[in-house]
Amino acid sequence: MKENLTVLIIGAGAREDTISRAWEKSSKVKRLIAAPGNDFIGYERKKEVIVDKNCSLKDPESLLRIACKYNPDRIEVAQDDALAGGTVDLLQKNGFQVFGPTKIPARIEWDKKESREFMQRHKIPSPDFRWFDSNKSPIFRLFDPNKSAKNYVKKLYKKEPDKLTYIKATGLCAGKGALKSTNLDEAIANIQKMKKFGDAGKVFLVEEGLIGEEFSYHVVVDGENYHAFKSAQDSKTVFNFDEGDQTGGMGAISPAMVTAPISEDIEKNLIKKPIDGMRKEGRPYKGVLYLSGIKVDGKPFNIEYNARWGDPECQVVLPSVKTDYVDIIEACLEGRLDRIEIQEDKKSRFCIVGASRGYPNNYENVIGKRIYGLEDAMKIDGVEVYGAGIKIIDGKFYANGGRLFSIVGEGDNIMDARQKACFAMAHVHIKGNNLQHKIDIGWRDVERFLE
Ligand code: GLY
Repeated sequence: MKENLTVLIIGAGAREDTISRAWEKSSKVKRLIAAPGNDFIGYERKKEVIVDKNCSLKDPESLLRIACKYNPDRIEVAQDDALAGGTVDLLQKNGFQVFGPTKIPARIEWDKKESREFMQRHKIPSPDFRWFDSNKSPIFRLFDPNKSAKNYVKKLYKKEPDKLTYIKATGLCAGKGALKSTNLDEAIANIQKMKKFGDAGKVFLVEEGLIGEEFSYHVVVDGENYHAFKSAQDSKTVFNFDEGDQTGGMGAISPAMVTAPISEDIEKNLIKKPIDGMRKEGRPYKGVLYLSGIKVDGKPFNIEYNARWGDPECQVVLPSVKTDYVDIIEACLEGRLDRIEIQEDKKSRFCIVGASRGYPNNYENVIGKRIYGLEDAMKIDGVEVYGAGIKIIDGKFYANGGRLFSIVGEGDNIMDARQKACFAMAHVHIKGNNLQHKIDIGWRDVERFLE
């Protein structure tokens, strides 16, 4: 295998920072390019790291221009908009070696309606749903009242007034497209809110809400063979006590104890079935498949599949991989994942996302404010910091987005890891008291551990 590799990572968040560090760890890698990346990705690295922002994740041609400029030996496309736009297809067509699913298999993430229909076809345990198309004219709905989402939820809530439902945009919405409703008024208001997602919300689902404990898995797939990494659990609401709006993710833990007694069921019904299903349908999946699941009365169900590493779950799962990342990706690209052994460490990891106050809604007034103490947090033993919305000017950090950074503590158990992450976060402050973060990430596992 070629050594001294140049690797291009496509994406801009703390997930891509984590991925870049997995590639950097390999002795076969010499140079990393992050596009568009963020300032923190290039900060104090052991190897040469170039951040090139001269592109857009929604513009595959601009990403191709970056690839042509640096001529990388390998490319990992890690971000959903880029995958949905067909970036992998375009780069492959131009002769690059690319890790990540092409546009059609990646549809499992970017088209929630098609994804649910696929799950139905392959008997993957998942919630009941109906889909609606607001492109259709009101006249059309007049003749067929069942086509009206409002009529549908009225019927649902007549039978069960406090039913849990999710109104879900079918397109990509940065993790914020599933709106929870617990009564008819909320459901109707959420149907109205689909408009704010533009094209992504024109077709939307009304889904039965499942009640249970959530988990996630990341599975590297070569079209046929696969390896599921350690389990994880995301923390999706913006506030503690599982309250507030949905976010892209405010923290994560790995492993997640909820999966232990049902891991075989998860593998059989939620991991193997979609991989086999996509292969049988002639669109074999190659890349990282993300499973978001929920345990309901002892049985696992799907919440969604994504076509990439989760953010912030990547920050707690990928650092545990001991096998050279280049070897894993190589085996994946060559369809021989069944012939390598992938090893992970036995540590627990606890991630807290530091966000701008107001995220996921209005945080514009935080942009440009100084972030203090991150340099100190990075120096703590057993702590890693991964950067997202950060600008660096004269060596100082400034807020430049909603989710700004991830602090990950690692330890022998969840409490050990949690203490390190919380201690590190206590070093950080954003001017004007503008740092927002949670403390109850993985609270169920914390309780299980303490009992
Ligand atoms: N943390 C959820 C996601 O990355 O989709």
